[in-house]
Amino acid sequence: MSTGYERVIKAYEYVRSQTDFQPKIGVVLGSGLGNYAKQMEVVQEISYDEIPGFPVSTVEGHDGRFLFGYVSGTPVVLMKGRVHYYEGYSMEEVVLPIRLMALLQIQVLLLTNAAGGINPNFRVGDFMIIKDHISSFVPSPLIGRNLDELGDRFPDMSHVYDPSLREVLKATAKEAGIEVQEGVYVQASGPNYETPVEIRMFAALGADAVGMSTTCEAMVARHAKVRVCGISCISNAAAGLSDEELCHSDVQEMANKRGKIFEQYISGIIQHLNTSLD
Ligand code: HPA
Repeated sequence: MSTGYERVIKAYEYVRSQTDFQPKIGVVLGSGLGNYAKQMEVVQEISYDEIPGFPVSTVEGHDGRFLFGYVSGTPVVLMKGRVHYYEGYSMEEVVLPIRLMALLQIQVLLLTNAAGGINPNFRVGDFMIIKDHISSFVPSPLIGRNLDELGDRFPDMSHVYDPSLREVLKATAKEAGIEVQEGVYVQASGPNYETPVEIRMFAALGADAVGMSTTCEAMVARHAKVRVCGISCISNAAAGLSDEELCHSDVQEMANKRGKIFEQYISGIIQHLNTSLD
């Protein structure tokens, strides 16, 4: 299998052979948050396993499809399910879908995930607008030959999460009466949850929430000059912050429980983004 740009182009060409839909916003749905797809007027569905060279998720509860369609009139491409580094894919493979959406010329990428809360002021079920991230504990997805066709060798990461989009996320929450937190997300490799001491280390470094995705996706999107915003659903207290043992089904259950409000929030965000992009 070819790597790098050719591989992205092959995937892109396949998608373009199936649809000429032009999305304005790309959305990645995290664990337990996949029900959002029901809010969409779907025009075209493409399963990851039909796209040549595409990574396919092996995790239970992680569906794998692109949905093209409209949310209140806004053209959107939705990633229902993502692959993770812990599944054994290279970082380059993990971020291939994001590069594909960049080639589809989305203007904004909205990333969502379920995350463990590190900040002691966070409660399970809270939403956190991501204001910055720590990606230093996983390899950069930009290692290897630079895809010059997509972006620079040494891209700036000073403002990964677009400040004006963060304002849109805050304003939308306020209008909908949804309480939101704001904080720093750290990506750990997984698949194991962290130890309590690792969580204390992350806290000391300034992290507010921890998960196993997102920062690598945000970085390749920025590399390709796509504007990025992100929201975590705090699905559990991180290791050592509660007596509960951590397990994937509880994480999914909590994300599902907050599903309805989350769906309302995402729809509001898409509407507001749409007007802010016009
Ligand atoms: N740690 C890492 N990833 C996670 C967690 C966690 O506590 N919760 C949801 N994803």
